[in-house]
Amino acid sequence: MAKKTVADIDVKGKKVLMRVDFNVPQDDNGNITSDDRIVKALPTIKNVLDRGGSLILMSHLGRPEGARDDAYTLQPVAKRLSELLGKKVIFADDSVGPDATAKAKALKQGDVLLLENLRFNREEVIKDKAAKEDKQLREAKDNFAKKLAAMADVYVDDAFGTAHRDNASMYTVPQVMEGKPRVIGFLIEKELKFLGDTISDPAHPFVAILGGAKVSDKIGVIENLIGKVDRIIIGGAMAYTFLKTRGKAIGGSRVEDDFLDKAQELLDRAADKNCEVLLPPDHSVVRKLEAGAEHRTAVGDIDPGWQAVDIGPMAAREFAAKIVDAKTIVWNGPMGVFEIPPFDLGTNAIAQAVAQATEKGAKSIVGGGDSASAIEQLGLQDKISHISTGGGASLEFLEGKKFKAIEILDNK
Ligand code: 3PG
Repeated sequence: MAKKTVADIDVKGKKVLMRVDFNVPQDDNGNITSDDRIVKALPTIKNVLDRGGSLILMSHLGRPEGARDDAYTLQPVAKRLSELLGKKVIFADDSVGPDATAKAKALKQGDVLLLENLRFNREEVIKDKAAKEDKQLREAKDNFAKKLAAMADVYVDDAFGTAHRDNASMYTVPQVMEGKPRVIGFLIEKELKFLGDTISDPAHPFVAILGGAKVSDKIGVIENLIGKVDRIIIGGAMAYTFLKTRGKAIGGSRVEDDFLDKAQELLDRAADKNCEVLLPPDHSVVRKLEAGAEHRTAVGDIDPGWQAVDIGPMAAREFAAKIVDAKTIVWNGPMGVFEIPPFDLGTNAIAQAVAQATEKGAKSIVGGGDSASAIEQLGLQDKISHISTGGGASLEFLEGKKFKAIEILDNK
């Protein structure tokens, strides 16, 4: 059932409590290195302001341990948002304390208030399962949600990146606000539509490119995609668990031995369904992973004492050739340790191939912070059909999971 969006409700003169995902990457000095998630929340923010509402924005940043930690303050985000909006963003020092409550109360039409990091409160991240089993936790989570809810007339969820979580601000606040409008924003609407349409009605060949560190993170995705995609290209450290099941020597490369059987089962299922699985035939290897490390290319087996840090040049060429003729592409996860050049070569080659295929008419979706930042670093953003703001969320979508935080919001 389609969800109501912010466009379907009246916001004039209303205080709109909006969950956004401003969990942006920062450098060691706290400077925002990509404001993509802030920029992509602007259409909903501007819509509310243009139509006479005021905004109480709430988000998490990182994973502080349930207490104030200045390394995770949202203050830099308030500054950036204010630059992007060209107007002052009021910042509250807490999310449910006296400062937030007073500033929310004083909001006037057109004002924007950003609350401090929700995760400075441990109640935000109490899991729903734990809350169901433990009365004290349930009450703590409910009380926190009630304080947030009490500030506003309307609830909007536009935090696609966090859609797979049952954080209090996402899952409990809308329950507490039953009877008031509770809708999705334009970013969530767009993400759900793009991902949903692509998976449900893909043009073929449909190619999935999966990378990153762990097989265990991607099992659900692979299981759901076998039978839908024509090819799965696997790179990154997760490839070495698969290569080990195929009897290859992988040297000191990262491997999840507990998942060797699962990897074999996935390879067998893929073969049954005529789904081609491509693993790297060669690798860039080092003795020790560090900037400037001595590296070489290993074809086939990897010697003891060496570990793979990127796919090799042959793999990059083979993978690219299997990508450029695709009509639908989903990509999640880098091919190597792309943050340490030259071990970004494999990831960059894949990014270029995905962009090339898109230029030739393929529909491409890139999810996950690392793949998205590789695309950004190469300036290829405009050559990708859709760069999802969700890492874990887009993966769970590809796994075929439902987002209960979205499901409970108002239907059209
Ligand atoms: C993300 O970056 O994937 C989201 O902001 C969710 O963050 P989390 O994994 O810390 O819940």
